[in-house]
Amino acid sequence: MRKPSHFIPALHFHWLTRWYDPMMRCLFPESGIKTALIAQARIQSGLTLLDVGCGTGTLTVLIKQTQPDAIVCGLDMDPQVLDIARRKAEQAGEGIILQQGSATCLPYPDGSFDRVFTSLMLHHLTRQDKQQMLREAFRVLRPGGELHVADFGKPHDFVMWLISWMMRWFEEIHDHILGRLPGFMMDAGFHPVEETAQQRTLVGTIALYRASKPMKND
Ligand SMILES: C[S@@+](CC[C@H](N)C(=O)[O-])C[C@H]1O[C@@H](n2cnc3c(N)ncnc32)[C@H](O)[C@@H]1O
Repeated sequence: MRKPSHFIPALHFHWLTRWYDPMMRCLFPESGIKTALIAQARIQSGLTLLDVGCGTGTLTVLIKQTQPDAIVCGLDMDPQVLDIARRKAEQAGEGIILQQGSATCLPYPDGSFDRVFTSLMLHHLTRQDKQQMLREAFRVLRPGGELHVADFGKPHDFVMWLISWMMRWFEEIHDHILGRLPGFMMDAGFHPVEETAQQRTLVGTIALYRASKPMKND
C-alpha cells in the first residue's frame, strides 16, 4: 500500500490552518452537516468508530459526546491540525485516540471498526487516492459496518450548479460534482450505497452518503 508524501492541508495552505475552525463556524453550515452525519450513523453504546481526515477534531469530539461509551479514533496526515484536535479533545474532557497517518494506508487491522466517518476529506485526494481510501475504509470495517461520508456532491439545483462549475478545478472536487463518489464506493465493495441528504453551501452542494459493507453471507 502506498503512503503519499504530499497532502492538501485543511484550508489548502498550512499557514491558514489556525483559521480553519473560525472560518467553518462563520461561513459553513458545519454544525448541521456534522450533526446529520452522526444521526444517520445510529451510534450505539460500545461501538468502535473511526474519523478519517479528522482535521481539527470537531466531528470526532461530537461523535464521542453523542455516545460517550463508544471507542472513538481520529486520524489525519497533518501534525499541525492534530495538535488543535488534541487540545479540543482535552478541553472537552473526551478520551479520543488521535493518530497521524494516511487515509490511503490506514494503520488498523481488518474488521476493526463498526463505523467509519469521513467529512470534507475525500476532495483532498486524487481520484486514485479516493479509490484507495474507500478500499481501506472497506477493509477496516467489520462485515455489516458502515461508512458515512460528507463531501462535495453533484449540484442539486441551478445555483449550486453555477457555484460547482466555478469550483470544479479546485483541489480534487471534479469527480465529486460529476456524481462519481457513489460509484467509487460500490467499486470498493460497499453495497448498498445511498445519498442521504444534500446541503446548500457557499462553495456548492455538500452531499451525505451512507455505504454499507455487506455481511459475509450477503
Ligand atoms: C477540509 S479538512 C476536513 C477536516 C474535518 N474532517 C472536518 O470535517 O472539519 C481535510 C483534512 O483532511 C486531511 N487530509 C488530507 N489528505 C489526507 C490523507 N491523505 N490522509 C489523511 N488525512 C488527510 C487534511 O490534513 C485535513 O485535516
